[in-house]
Amino acid sequence: MKKKSPISRGGRFAHEISADVAQFTESISFDWRLWMHDIFGSMAHAEMLHQIGVLPKKEMLAIVRGLDDIGMEIQAGRFRWKRELEDIHMNIEAELTRRVPAGAKLHTGRSRNDQVALDVRLWLRDEIIFLLREIADLQRALVSLGEKNADVLIPGYTHLQRAQPVYLAHHLLAYVEMLERDCERLWDCHSRVNVCPLGSGAIAGSTLPLNRELVAKRLGFVDAGGKVQLTQNSMDAVSDRDFAVEFCAAGALLAVHLSRLAEDVILWASAEFNFIRIADAYTTGSSLMPQKKNPDIAELARGKTGRVFGNLMSLLTLLKGLPMTYNRDLQEDKERLFDTADTVRATTRLLAAMLRNTNMNKAACEAAAGDPALLATDLADYLVKKGMPFRQAHHVVGVVVALAEKTGQPLNKLTFAELQTIDKAFGRDALGVFNLKTAMAKRNLTGAPGTKEVAKQLARWREQLS
Ligand code: ARG
Repeated sequence: MKKKSPISRGGRFAHEISADVAQFTESISFDWRLWMHDIFGSMAHAEMLHQIGVLPKKEMLAIVRGLDDIGMEIQAGRFRWKRELEDIHMNIEAELTRRVPAGAKLHTGRSRNDQVALDVRLWLRDEIIFLLREIADLQRALVSLGEKNADVLIPGYTHLQRAQPVYLAHHLLAYVEMLERDCERLWDCHSRVNVCPLGSGAIAGSTLPLNRELVAKRLGFVDAGGKVQLTQNSMDAVSDRDFAVEFCAAGALLAVHLSRLAEDVILWASAEFNFIRIADAYTTGSSLMPQKKNPDIAELARGKTGRVFGNLMSLLTLLKGLPMTYNRDLQEDKERLFDTADTVRATTRLLAAMLRNTNMNKAACEAAAGDPALLATDLADYLVKKGMPFRQAHHVVGVVVALAEKTGQPLNKLTFAELQTIDKAFGRDALGVFNLKTAMAKRNLTGAPGTKEVAKQLARWREQLS
């Protein structure tokens, strides 16, 4: 008789599944990457089974040692995955049981349904921490670029039309703020990922006196106050994946922010803006046009947003029609989740590296920010300070702009006499508003791009990110 695998369907089924079915249903080709967390979960479960008297100490130790050996082999790339064993859980358990007979006791009080929920939570918990580190690094890269160019002004844009002057640092810090909210969302998500589902069994817990607290504590499922976090409903625990949806949603919003940053970089690198030079190592050439230097990292950062949005939509769709509780559909969660995690992490890392290798073209920035039209609103504010209602001041300055346009001169080159013909409220000091330096010194509201305020915000972020 052919020797059966230690994990066999032979008890219930007369026939093994066909190769076609095996290929369609397997998940080992992608869930193998949960191996470390699967092993940690099994070790904690084994220790608990010993503590409640199911596993003698010797067997428990043999299981832990066996799992440890398997882990080292996987890490070294020496472990042979078997597709016929379907998934990561069965691959590891079958090999363990082949080596350590007591491995047959490991699945006591456990189902793959609570096991996979545990593994994904453990994996995602780590992944969120890695991602948070990358985001902080990107924030630091943005702050550094702002600090290195603390005196550089650029036009701020609305409708992609020049609006008002801002410090480059102010523009960059806008992204630092967005990224900070991404971090907050990820931390918030982390608190709901960090809840232990083990002990939920297939759907209805177990008749054995499992010690859920012990397992949870051992695996670090505790909140900031040290309180153990356990799922409170076995059916919910094995069937919902809202924690994964939340991560993919937070990841999608992060991807939006990265994509917007990328878009600015792409514009700035064009000859039309010419604000930045990206180092050669972070650009690519054209196979046809020898002069080209393309901002491909930024373009891919923008482009990859599509798959990250798609992953979120896939997960939502996957869950919406599922009857309680576990359904095999849920196996489809992993590739989408992995893809979002991989994509946003790599994109964040590459954008940070690219920014660290980007220099400002100060002359081009200065020329663009020096456009006096950017200070037309300051001229209206000047009239408001003379007592004119803002609506009227806006109109008067509109006439000034039209005159400058008609006579083909920059706003700041109009004469006092010309201004006077438009409105008597203009004094000899009116043209003083076009001094960019004093104009920037005046914008010191909290959150405004004033000289002192931007320096303060840069210092705050430097401190907060150190
Ligand atoms: N590979 C499965 C998944 O990812 C593991 C759980 C399988 N459970 C089951 N009852 N077939 O969801």
